[in-house]
Amino acid sequence: MQRLLLVLVAAAGALVLGLEPPRGPCVAPLQWDGRMVQYDHSSGRNSRANISYDGVTRRIRILQTHRRHTPCQRFFEFIYLYDSMVMFQIEQKTKQCSKIALSEPWDPYDIPENSTFEDAYFIGGVGERVAVQEWSDRKPARKHETWVGVYTTRDCYPVQETYTRNSSVTTSTRFFDLQLGIRDPDVFTPPSTCQSARPERMAESTC
Ligand SMILES: *[C@@H]1O[C@H](CO)[C@@H](O)[C@H](O)[C@H]1NC(C)=O
Ligand SMILES: *[C@@H]1O[C@H](CO)[C@@H](O)[C@H](O)[C@H]1NC(C)=O
Ligand SMILES: *[C@@H]1O[C@H](CO)[C@@H](O)[C@H](O)[C@H]1NC(C)=O
Repeated sequence: MQRLLLVLVAAAGALVLGLEPPRGPCVAPLQWDGRMVQYDHSSGRNSRANISYDGVTRRIRILQTHRRHTPCQRFFEFIYLYDSMVMFQIEQKTKQCSKIALSEPWDPYDIPENSTFEDAYFIGGVGERVAVQEWSDRKPARKHETWVGVYTTRDCYPVQETYTRNSSVTTSTRFFDLQLGIRDPDVFTPPSTCQSARPERMAESTC
């Protein structure tokens, strides 16, 4: 009983004072479905999508979400297969398909073991908050970060990933409504129109 009380007091203390730094990065789940918004800093656009993530066989499927009043906008499905280093881009209405070789290596949604701890804190405020931890690839006094990842402390779900590829390409991706496991593994199978896929990427806008 006394021990329980101590734990409760310690927990209450943590809530008031903020969070202790973790001993190391948490281990992110390997397979999940969810939703995301990717913000591209150069175009200033936010792109919403459903995502299925398979860190076991290195596949990602992104289904862009339709929105009203987007006259020139085409919506795509993207299937990334890193074991074969190809990406399929499928126009949702016509199923027109492009097959494009991937040039960047597989980069899982997780926190590399040697990451630099940045902060631990609560998202939200009193009465409604979620503990998260923030890591980066910064090397103190040697290198600015090109990646920052925010993950929930308890189950290590990704919350936000920010990448700076070079001076002109920075993206921030926010993840939410995540569910463990992949409900429909068929989402990683390209449609039959991809058997005669074109080799160049289709433009997002038609005018
Ligand atoms: C996207 O995900 C949401 C929430 O999980 C779901 O309700 C919706 O049906 C999904 N949309 C499509 C097109 O699969
Ligand atoms: C972690 O290790 C990788 C691979 O060796 C290296 O490229 C990266 O710079 C390291 N990151 C940090 C923050 O030390
Ligand atoms: C930045 O990276 C993007 C994507 O990798 C590439 O297309 C672009 O040419 C690069 N720009 C510069 C200035 O290096």
